[in-house]
Amino acid sequence: MTTFAARLRRATMVEHREAETRGFITRLMAGGVPRAGFAALTAQYLFIYAELEAAADRMRADKTAAPFADPALTRVPALEADLAHLYGPGWASTITPLPATQRYVRRLHEHCRASAPHFIAHHYVRYLGDLSGGLLVGRSVATTYGLGPDGVRFYAFDGVEHPKAYKAAYRARLDALPLPDEQLDTVVAEAQLAFRLNAAVFEELGTAYPATTLPSPV
Ligand code: HEM
Repeated sequence: MTTFAARLRRATMVEHREAETRGFITRLMAGGVPRAGFAALTAQYLFIYAELEAAADRMRADKTAAPFADPALTRVPALEADLAHLYGPGWASTITPLPATQRYVRRLHEHCRASAPHFIAHHYVRYLGDLSGGLLVGRSVATTYGLGPDGVRFYAFDGVEHPKAYKAAYRARLDALPLPDEQLDTVVAEAQLAFRLNAAVFEELGTAYPATTLPSPV
């Protein structure tokens, strides 16, 4: 029998691949995004996580969602510190959400503050991703931009000592979800949508911050 965590992973494989291979993300990993583009990505994350974590605060009162809403995962303070480092003290009045970020945040706001299946889907896509490929992205950007720990605190989960064990426990929580089939279907569909919402943000960042042109040889 397939467990729910395995089903969710399999059902989002195509979307994962599409998000992971967006030009902006592959370029980011290859050192081809200008520093301003990396700063803008961090800014988009603040808008997204501020809403996701506002939803988490509310969902701690929900029996099904509460085990996922672990305060040890909270990213907003790390993002604020990164932005202060990347943009300087006036960061809060400098950053703006892209249209794709606004759509993502609207979806979170409208669905994740009261619905456990929606909240869990979005929580899974971001935090399990952050504890997987996100750790590789963190190492890569630290090298590219000469940052660390300031500027890349978002990628370091001080409250999660062993990401591998944490992810195993998280998957066990997914497998034990006490939800009827139709609500499990909602988790799967919403996770697929969450990946597409992320991919759309990367797409817009890719357009706004084209490849860094290397100095031409003289
Ligand atoms: C450079 C980009 C990325 C790389 C290299 C990458 C790599 C990986 C790897 C290796 C895993 C498997 C980890 C494991 O088995 O424990 C994974 C899992 C995951 N990634 Fe990514 N990823 C990237 C981007 C993304 C993005 C953009 C998202 C979502 C916005 C994401 C969401 C996830 C999720 C939710 C999982 C957990 C899958 C599961 O086990 O259920 N990843 N990623």
